[in-house]
Amino acid sequence: MDKIGIFDFGGQYCHLIARRIRDLGVYSDIIYEPSEGYKGFILSGGPGDVYSEESPKLPNNFFQDVNIPVLGICYGHQMIAQAFGGKVERGKEREYGKKIAKINTSSELFKNLKEEEQVWMSHFDQVTKLPEDFENIGETDICLNAAYQNKSKNVFGVQFHPEVIHTPSGDKVLDNFIKITGSKRDWKLEGWIEEKITHLKENIGDKSIIMAVSGGVDSTVAAVLLSKAGVNTHFIYVDTGLMRLSETEEVSNIFQDLQIKNFHVVYSEERFLSALKDVTNPEEKRVIIGNLFIKIFEEKAKELGNFSYLGQGTIYPDRIESAQPSKLANVIKTHHNVGGLPERMNLDLIEPLNELYKDEVRKIGNMLGLPKRFIKRHPFPGPALAIRILGEVTKERLEILRKADAIVTEIIEKNDLYDNLWQVFPALIPVKSVGVMGDKRTYEYMLAIRAVESIDAMTADWSKIPYSVLEDISNQIVNKVSGVNRVLYDITSKPPGTIEYE
Ligand code: XMP
Repeated sequence: MDKIGIFDFGGQYCHLIARRIRDLGVYSDIIYEPSEGYKGFILSGGPGDVYSEESPKLPNNFFQDVNIPVLGICYGHQMIAQAFGGKVERGKEREYGKKIAKINTSSELFKNLKEEEQVWMSHFDQVTKLPEDFENIGETDICLNAAYQNKSKNVFGVQFHPEVIHTPSGDKVLDNFIKITGSKRDWKLEGWIEEKITHLKENIGDKSIIMAVSGGVDSTVAAVLLSKAGVNTHFIYVDTGLMRLSETEEVSNIFQDLQIKNFHVVYSEERFLSALKDVTNPEEKRVIIGNLFIKIFEEKAKELGNFSYLGQGTIYPDRIESAQPSKLANVIKTHHNVGGLPERMNLDLIEPLNELYKDEVRKIGNMLGLPKRFIKRHPFPGPALAIRILGEVTKERLEILRKADAIVTEIIEKNDLYDNLWQVFPALIPVKSVGVMGDKRTYEYMLAIRAVESIDAMTADWSKIPYSVLEDISNQIVNKVSGVNRVLYDITSKPPGTIEYE
């Protein structure tokens, strides 16, 4: 299979570039070093500046060793210019947002584009002098070298971001780059399932696998694949008592409907609630939940027998981010579902989905016959409702949140808003305020409604959902959920907020 490597220089859109390339039919990988087997490289954007010591650098002798087509985007564009002897300097002003670029459509990179195109810019530094043998192929009013090429070396650079939707012809630019690399478009999900099943059968043989399933799309799709491959797998679902309304029942039904054997539910609410008693620190909560989950999983696994493999629903971004955490970002929250288990259990890993992005997993889930409603479900964090109850987690607070969550989801679905949102949920703020109901004074908790739109959860906008829908949510919650007398709407984007509350 032909593939294109995307160098990650810490840019928030790096995964987006990789996904766009796959959507255009070519397999892509996020990489940090050049290696054999690629038809082209894309150098991503990033927050650094090319002069600073700490900023990511191109590997030594990159352009001596690499003789396949290279496209630099934003920071990558500046790095290439610098590497070939051009000049990068701080611009007079920051260029941010939608801009019009004048481009040279005779360049292979800009084939089928118009001479003036809207592009998305986000930079301060810019290439002020092109290296020798480089030709300018694009400019904006602020950035004179917004695009360049060196045809003989097959090296291209764009200061703008072709991977984001605000560059409407961005896909054409990436498509042209694919053509320049001569890659075959052979990344198709259709043949993938059969190939994966054969591969699993051959590799696992009659050895056995133990796997934790959460009811999330990733682990469920991975479980269905393992089950279709007919390999001997036991699936453990730990009901932590922190789940949403009817969640355990729904997950059990899905496994039953798909006739997946060896599905075990471990009811553990009491253990989780007693471990979380009096704990208010968010990180402490996450660690307690993660560790206890592992403990319960191990106990159940021991009871079930001996296993050679640990199955996981890891998808591509999880793998890259856990392998390279320091390069990408500070640890803001301890995610409890990646890591932890594999180190402790000393079993080899089976991760059937580890080369797929979420939208690809959803497509595979669809092909495998999982219910549509389930596949489209919003992401749900491993520590579940515990991180949506600020402060101590108690049974009473969980009951409140569960009821409110079901109401919010129902209203959002009824108004056809669900699919446009990345996530929507209530969070319980354990502060009491005074209200009045039926002529009586009330003194109850408040709930915040969080509804965000996002592409990859790295950044998110609060959603401007209609007032009438918010009104319905507020009325129904206050009327139907005892213990709550006030509903707030969260209007914080990410950054500076995060999507979850803890
Ligand atoms: P934040 O709150 O960091 O969340 O903006 C980004 C995305 O990650 C989800 N999230 C988690 N997912 N285990 C998960 O599987 C976790 O521990 C976890 N914490 C946050 C969150 O719901 C959002 O989609």
